[in-house]
Amino acid sequence: MLTGDRPTGPLHLGHYFGSLQNRVAMQDDFESYIMVADVQALTDNFHQPEMVRQNVLEVAMDNISAGMDPKKSTLFIQSQIPQIAELTVFYSNLVTVNTLKRNPTVKAEIAEKRELFGQDGESVTYGFLGYPVSQAADITIVRAHIVPVGEDQLPMIEQTREIVERFHRMYQCNIFPLPQSKLSNSPRIIGLDGSGKMSKSLNNAVYLKDNPEETIEKIKGAKTDSGTTIEFNPKERPEISNLVLIYSLIHNQNPKDVASELKHNTYSEFKLKLAHDLNRHLMPFRAKRLELESKPHYVKEILDMGRVKVLEKAEETMRQVREAMKINY
Ligand code: TRP
Repeated sequence: MLTGDRPTGPLHLGHYFGSLQNRVAMQDDFESYIMVADVQALTDNFHQPEMVRQNVLEVAMDNISAGMDPKKSTLFIQSQIPQIAELTVFYSNLVTVNTLKRNPTVKAEIAEKRELFGQDGESVTYGFLGYPVSQAADITIVRAHIVPVGEDQLPMIEQTREIVERFHRMYQCNIFPLPQSKLSNSPRIIGLDGSGKMSKSLNNAVYLKDNPEETIEKIKGAKTDSGTTIEFNPKERPEISNLVLIYSLIHNQNPKDVASELKHNTYSEFKLKLAHDLNRHLMPFRAKRLELESKPHYVKEILDMGRVKVLEKAEETMRQVREAMKINY
């Protein structure tokens, strides 16, 4: 199993219920690789390398604090595996520019990043347009079978499968498993302002590492509608439903049941309850996080062990790739 995060900020509740819990559960059954995707983060943050650098450790600590066990899972930094860059170059011959331009996730991201890539994406870089190719290399360098991801990443896995099939056909070999995506079963959490996703730039996220006071302030300030009853109805009342959803995930309950149980609470009573329960739920995470922050060399050691292990696996993959491509001089 391989999955990863771009180090562009600390991880938030959306990551936690969406993917962290899921990957922690999987590490008992799969040989697991968790990548801190710094090279991919640079494809749209090439102008702020310091930000990416700082968030590498943040993301690593968030993963470990959430229960990623360095004895079971391998945590590593993408840029420390040069074979990924090498494989990306070879894969780039197998993908057309038009296919990349049509990738729905890439398209949406280019549209979101007008400041960087121009009003109509006319200034999009070769690197950004090609990041799905690089992601195919991320996945296949360890010959992953399964890739747990959110829905927005499905086009990337599909692209990876196409590259793998084309590679095998073109060079008459069978090096890679055909990777499968695994969607987490928890529904998507939206931002506290009711806008699409939780994100740092929108200032609408609860970070796992936030302290209890910050969490209470943020939940108290979460946008709600002018209704007076607690209800789970994401289509018509997205903001309050999002809070009900978070509550239900903490308590492992069905959101509809939560809503009917709490329907006589006022919004502010409910928010306070939610904030307190969330703080209680995140207590073990936060204790671990504080401990890790006080010993960064321990986190770096884990990343270094990951680097060594993945380098070995990656070099074995590339040995087979170079042979298949007749460049094993
Ligand atoms: N694109 C992913 C994201 O934005 C991060 C990522 C990079 C990834 N490489 C990966 C995910 C490989 C799964 C597999 O969240």
